[in-house]
Amino acid sequence: MKYTTKNVVAGFHGIKKKELVPYSIARTVIEYAQMREILAGKHFNYAAEIGCGYGRLLPFLAEIATDVHGFERDATLWSTAARLNPTAGIWKLEHLRDRLLDVYMPPVNFILTFTFLQHLENDHAEEILSVISQSPAQTILLCEQTEGNSRHCHGRLIEWYASRLPNFTLAKIEPRRVDPASVSNAHYMLFERK
Ligand SMILES: C[S@@+](CC[C@H](N)C(=O)[O-])C[C@H]1O[C@@H](n2cnc3c(N)ncnc32)[C@H](O)[C@@H]1O
Repeated sequence: MKYTTKNVVAGFHGIKKKELVPYSIARTVIEYAQMREILAGKHFNYAAEIGCGYGRLLPFLAEIATDVHGFERDATLWSTAARLNPTAGIWKLEHLRDRLLDVYMPPVNFILTFTFLQHLENDHAEEILSVISQSPAQTILLCEQTEGNSRHCHGRLIEWYASRLPNFTLAKIEPRRVDPASVSNAHYMLFERK
């Protein structure tokens, strides 16, 4: 990997250039720290991330929950997530609605989506939010793009998300930090069941 100012967090004191922290690693550390702050010591029995990719956030879920599950559509990412998180349940779902509620999620009490819904078209994102709202989850944390659109991402207003989760109160909103000095065009949205 080529270390440029774009893909490293530059300027950590005392670190030689060749040892600069790759941006993706630094970003994940910052994300873990921010989610810890937002969840403020909450603990859950059963936590699930929908669209978990290769499972980089599942070790965080293991900090805050006894039973951890990741759901992923892509076969390669799904198998990597399973290898990296051997104690978690990693489920490959082609169509999210397929048996998600009745088979996989009956005991879920915390759901995370992280830069997942922003990649989906409106009807697909709405379908997933409806699955989430019908689940027994008490707490939901969304981290999604909330402004600006690009070819790959739909920025949707915080109000748009809140209106799709009518049985939940929006308890906290925090701009997503991506490096020590700046925030991105996404927000953490913490919802609690009414
Ligand atoms: C940008 S990645 C984010 C991954 C992870 N949340 C993270 O932050 O590292 C979005 C992920 O959602 C997955 N995905 C897209 N549609 C899905 C669906 N219908 N069911 C499950 N996973 C899906 C993609 O394959 C991809 O791994």
